[in-house]
Amino acid sequence: MAAYIGTPTSRVDGRAKVTGEAKYAAEFNSDGLVYGAIVTSTIAKGRIKRLDASAAKRVDGVLDVLTHENRPHMADADQAWKDDVAPEKGSPFRPLYDDGIRFSRQPIALVLAREWEIAVFAATLLDVEYASEAHVTDLYAERDKAFVVEKPAKPRGDAPRAYAASEVRHEDEYFVPVEHHNPMELFAATVVWEGGGKLTVYDKTQGVQNVQRYVCSAFNKKPEDVRVVSAFMGGGFGAGLRPQYEVALAVLGALALQRSVRVVLSRAQMYGLGYRPATIERLAVGASKDGTLNAMTHEATAVTSEYEDFSRNDTGWGGVLYNSPNVNFVHRLARLDVSTPCDMRAPGAATGVYGLESAMDELAVALKLDPVELRLKSYSDRDRNEDRPYTSKQLRECYAQGAAAFGWSRRNPEPRSMRDGKELVGWGMASGVWEALQMPAAARIVLTANGHADVSCAASDIGTGTYTILAQVAADALGLPIENISVKLGDSTLPDAPVEGGSWMAASASHAVIATAEEVRTELLAAAKTIENSPLADAKAEDVVLADGKIMSKHDQSRAVSITDIMRHSGADRILKEKKHEFGEDSSHARNTHSAVFVEVKIDEELGIIRVTRVVSAVAAGRILNTKTAASQIIGGVVWGIGMALHEETVFDHRFGRIMNANIAEYHVPVNADIHDIKVIFVDEPDEKINKLGVKGVGEIGIVGVPAAIANAVYHATGTRVRDLPITLDKVLG
Ligand code: MOS
Repeated sequence: MAAYIGTPTSRVDGRAKVTGEAKYAAEFNSDGLVYGAIVTSTIAKGRIKRLDASAAKRVDGVLDVLTHENRPHMADADQAWKDDVAPEKGSPFRPLYDDGIRFSRQPIALVLAREWEIAVFAATLLDVEYASEAHVTDLYAERDKAFVVEKPAKPRGDAPRAYAASEVRHEDEYFVPVEHHNPMELFAATVVWEGGGKLTVYDKTQGVQNVQRYVCSAFNKKPEDVRVVSAFMGGGFGAGLRPQYEVALAVLGALALQRSVRVVLSRAQMYGLGYRPATIERLAVGASKDGTLNAMTHEATAVTSEYEDFSRNDTGWGGVLYNSPNVNFVHRLARLDVSTPCDMRAPGAATGVYGLESAMDELAVALKLDPVELRLKSYSDRDRNEDRPYTSKQLRECYAQGAAAFGWSRRNPEPRSMRDGKELVGWGMASGVWEALQMPAAARIVLTANGHADVSCAASDIGTGTYTILAQVAADALGLPIENISVKLGDSTLPDAPVEGGSWMAASASHAVIATAEEVRTELLAAAKTIENSPLADAKAEDVVLADGKIMSKHDQSRAVSITDIMRHSGADRILKEKKHEFGEDSSHARNTHSAVFVEVKIDEELGIIRVTRVVSAVAAGRILNTKTAASQIIGGVVWGIGMALHEETVFDHRFGRIMNANIAEYHVPVNADIHDIKVIFVDEPDEKINKLGVKGVGEIGIVGVPAAIANAVYHATGTRVRDLPITLDKVLG
């Protein structure tokens, strides 16, 4: 009964997106809409001594200027500002709360006007006097003060001693700079004042219910008075996991004026939000002469803010991928005068695996061993960190199929040995790993007599294809053509869903749909039994399926009743079911997705220009619900990996504690000219243990491994090992 699951189904929301019918947070209108322009701090640390908004207020069309001095009431307790994905420790940022400045580009005022241009102009007239304090924004300046945070991966054996005793060793540091998400869509919120204290909030977010709870607790609102909608997103990548300050500002504006208010960040202001934290990855790997791993130490030192402890697992991945009897993993945080980092595509893994897989490549060079061989020598069939088996791990197949498709066997291991005209050619590879997470989620199905089903869930589709896969799953589960399924997402009034992130939504929401469809089937069966001489009179729930618009016996398809007949007979025009699905607490198996990434770079020897000419990414991620949207996720991840390896870097001027390239002209991301041949392979990975459908979810696995594979290819091409990202031409020539 899998007519749609597993097929390369095109996006069901594709037409809405290309025609502009899909509306984004800043596109919702309301009578008398007021526009808010944000003013941000020019210093990194200190206090606002004086803020004079009188000139701005005198501008015709300006309705008010909100600051910490005159804003409406907001909650004081930290707990009220903690959203579902806030760091456990710390005091979440709240805009216009007090006179304190915690980071450069912190919002300090909201100018409200009847036209956007007026608001933006008036915002330039604010007169602000600061009391500056000494700030630190350089990770290297603070690394000695970094403190250790608890991480799940436990040490085993004695890594330092085993390292010292290893026949072949490699130890070094790898650096990842701050990177910003830079989604196409700017962060924006349109808060519609519905009267009677009710608000409809159109926000750019990956979790409408998370924002709904946040708005209610921060502004003391009743749940029924706040509805949050985010049906489409122009890119999230983790930036929208936590409520961002645009939503708090827009709500403040609406409460102050008792009118509808829209707040849109500028591109520069987007650099005041969360980011991928700069991280120093220190690796020490030791092996015996034959290449068997003996010792692995991975210590990460990452940035956090002065007010929250944000950390992700950078260091444990070596214990998930490889078999090493002696390991030690340490994660440290250094506090800087910056905004709190946030999740960004494969947080922890994109950075940690870059360090790990670069170090593995350097070890392979020291061993004079093929990099794939080295990884196979210490291949682990168990998650060594927790000493448990995987629900499935077809990484071996990823290496094999990826290498074959790439032509890896033709690689000359000698650096600088391969050439194409005046370009040096380099081939590198790396492993990738991510978690296969799954969360409780609920769905509602309304099946009507005409054989049409509305499927709804509060989940957001952050561009990953959630609308499409849920339509596929529902069509198969209900036995209807996919054209008969409408999927509604991204509205806090719909059945509960977690924030969309961590690549967990495919597994989470599809099982909610399956579970709800089962309830529909049960009700249809009960109704079918009441029909006189029903062919299903003695059928049990487990004996029937829904197919071709009918409920039928699995064993004898002629024993069937059409949905239309059932509804006509029962006099109902619809069946409505809502069900929450939970996965249970089984921790006996590790759940991970894996990949093997093979990269070809061509480097102009005289100019140092690096091109990533070929990438093969072989991915093992359980059952792939939609080979088209899933492949798009992997291609997108590879493009991000190319950006991380070669382009992306948020540059600070530490004297001012300020980001100097807060725009997409000087913050480089890959463009079409940077992208060449990318091939995605999904290896077959049946998984009966993980969940009913065998789904693991893809997205983040697409980036993991790519930066290391590129760095390794650059070394192979040039003989120069660059250990700090991005690998720009000056570093290659130098
Ligand atoms: Mo993702 S970084 O969990 O949106």
